[in-house]
Amino acid sequence: MIYLTNNNIYKFAKKDNGGVMSVLKTANSNVFSQDSITKRLQVKNLLESTKMVSTIAGSDVIQGLTQTPKTLPSKYFYDDRGSELFEAICELPEYYPTRTETSILQKYAGEIADITGACELVELGSGSSSKTRILLDAYKHKNLPLRYLPIDVSAGMLETSARKLLTDYPSLQVHALAATYNMALSHLQPSPLPSRTIAFIGSSLGNLNPYECDRFFSQITDALQMGEYFLLGIDLQKPKHILEAAYNDAQGVTAAFNLNMLEHLNRRFEGDFDTTQFEHWAFYNQVENQIEMHLHSLRSQTVELRALNLKVHFELGETIHTEISRKFNLQTIQNELQAKGLVPQKAWTDENQWFGLILSQMQI
Ligand code: AVJ
Repeated sequence: MIYLTNNNIYKFAKKDNGGVMSVLKTANSNVFSQDSITKRLQVKNLLESTKMVSTIAGSDVIQGLTQTPKTLPSKYFYDDRGSELFEAICELPEYYPTRTETSILQKYAGEIADITGACELVELGSGSSSKTRILLDAYKHKNLPLRYLPIDVSAGMLETSARKLLTDYPSLQVHALAATYNMALSHLQPSPLPSRTIAFIGSSLGNLNPYECDRFFSQITDALQMGEYFLLGIDLQKPKHILEAAYNDAQGVTAAFNLNMLEHLNRRFEGDFDTTQFEHWAFYNQVENQIEMHLHSLRSQTVELRALNLKVHFELGETIHTEISRKFNLQTIQNELQAKGLVPQKAWTDENQWFGLILSQMQI
């Protein structure tokens, strides 16, 4: 494990992410000195820590691309570029989930803060942390102490947003962790505050199949003490045309996001995917209640990933399955949580019932 000291953060930032430099400028121009921010920030990177981790990371690529039909894990969307593209998706007129969840949070963040009280807020897949600000504001408004632990696989995005948060919240402590969900959940120390809330908002749960979902809930219960909380945001079932528009936006941002996975693999594993020879394809599978995203090959071609010592052949029209985005039933998912000992305390939704937010408590 690498603890990034200040100097290391900067070295890391300069090497891997030019974008971070502008953040340093932002921080400098702010009334809070660089120092006061640094004192309240801790960044740990579990992803870059050992060679072994990236070998393990590559083995899932090999596995996915050598099976029929071909698949790739959705987590490979989120390199720094992919995280930026996802932020752009959240602003699209067709992409209703972010807007809808934001409106629910704006309405009920105070209630959430009242129920959990002072706590350590652990956020899985924190991204830009923009929705989290609504929660941070609610705790601040009620003078409830809070420590924030954002966790994300995009180290660049994690650091950029942590620094922005620290300038905007002068008494907040941020312990950022660059890690996968699995790594992070097994790495958590007991909360120093009276309680802990693990937040998994944005419907990222939709990326997990039912089996993975069950295992994930078990990991959540392992990371919580009795009486602690789990806040879950889920996209709900709705008519096909609304769903399909959200994943086939007119500006082509979702297509760019999907194709960026190949660019990410090129960068990370010395690959030679030609992204002009693959096409974005997304549709709603009404049997499984899930959006499926694929990349389909526009010709017969062979791609090489040198760092993985892998050559992969694609037939014309052959696809790589890159994502499922499941759409849930609010009651069914509450029953599943309950069965795991994560007892729903309250569930909120919007006026169309397009999105749901559930606050569960670890059984006492
Ligand atoms: C971040 C997984 C919730 O499934 O809607 C957006 C990712 N993929 N557009 C989703 C995504 C295509 C998103 N999640």
